[in-house]
Amino acid sequence: MPDNNETINGETRTFGIIGNPVHHSLSPEMHNAAFRALNLNCIYVPLPTTNIREAVAGVRSLGFRGISVTIPYKQDVMPLVDHIDSVAEQIGAVNTLLIKKEPNREDPVLYGSNTDWVGANRALSEQLELQGSRILLVGAGGAARALGFGFRQAGAEVVVTNRTVEKGKQLADHLGGHFVDLNDLDQIQGDALVNATSVGMIPDSAEIPVNPGVLRNFSVVMDVVYAPVETRLLREAAEAGCAVVDGLSMLLYQGVAQFELWTGREAPVDIMRDVVYNHLKAKSSH
Ligand code: ATR
Repeated sequence: MPDNNETINGETRTFGIIGNPVHHSLSPEMHNAAFRALNLNCIYVPLPTTNIREAVAGVRSLGFRGISVTIPYKQDVMPLVDHIDSVAEQIGAVNTLLIKKEPNREDPVLYGSNTDWVGANRALSEQLELQGSRILLVGAGGAARALGFGFRQAGAEVVVTNRTVEKGKQLADHLGGHFVDLNDLDQIQGDALVNATSVGMIPDSAEIPVNPGVLRNFSVVMDVVYAPVETRLLREAAEAGCAVVDGLSMLLYQGVAQFELWTGREAPVDIMRDVVYNHLKAKSSH
C-alpha cells in the first residue's frame, strides 16, 4: 500500500480549512494534490464553521497539524491562538495555523501567521524586484492591508489610493506612505499598480478600479480578483504594454507558503498550479 492519502490510516496527519462558507474553496484540492505528489500521509478537509471558538478548541484537541482560516474568521481567530507572528499582528489577520506538540506541554501549541502577503509578494516578485520599488496600492480594506504590510516588509514604498478617502489615508499612514486621490492618479509614476479591491469581479467584470489611461505609468499590474482570471484591469494593462500578474497566482502562492510551513518540504508548485487553473477553467465552462 502506498503511504499517501489514498490510504487513510492511524498515522494520517490531518489538515483543514475553517470558515463560513468553505464549499467553494480551492484549498482542499490544491493541498491534497500536493500531499499525493510528495507521497505524504496527510489529508486536508473542509471544516465549515459557525463558532470559531469551538472550532479552534476542536482543532487543538483533535490533533490537527495545520489549518487555513478564511472569511469571516481571520480576525476573530487571533485571540484564540498562542503565538502570532509579527507581520500577521501588524496586518491584524491570521489565515494560517500551525499546530505543534511541544515537550512538557500536554496541549499542542497554536501558531498563527498570514500567508496572503507572502503569496502576493511571491507572485509580484516574478515580475519585479520588490526591494526599493514603488507600488501603487488600490484599496484600503482587509486585502489591501495584508498586501500593503507585505510590500513594506519586502522593502517597497507603498502609495495608497481608495474610493473612501479617509480609509485610504489611514492605511497610508499605517504603511508610512502617502495617499493619492483616485482622480489624481495620472500624477503618479510607479513600478507596479496592485488592485486590492473587489472591483472587476464577476458579475461586474466590465468594471475597472482605475482610469485605464494611468496604466502606462507602471511596468507591472497585479489584480487580487481571480474571477475572471483575466480581469478588465489586466486586459487593459497588457494592451498598455504592462506585465500582468493575475489573482490566481497569489492564491496559489499563499497555499504554497502554507504547505511549506506545515510540511517543511518544498511544495510541488506546478501540480498545485494545475489544480487551481484547471478548477477555474472547468468552472468557467459551465
Ligand atoms: P476585503 O477584505 O476583501 O479587502 P473590504 O474590507 O470590504 O474587503 O474592502 C473592500 C475594498 O474595496 C475597499 O477599499 C473598498 O473601497 P471603500 O473603502 O471606498 O469602501 C473597495 N471597493 C469595493 N467596491 C468598490 C467599488 N465599487 N468602487 C471602488 N472601490 C470599491
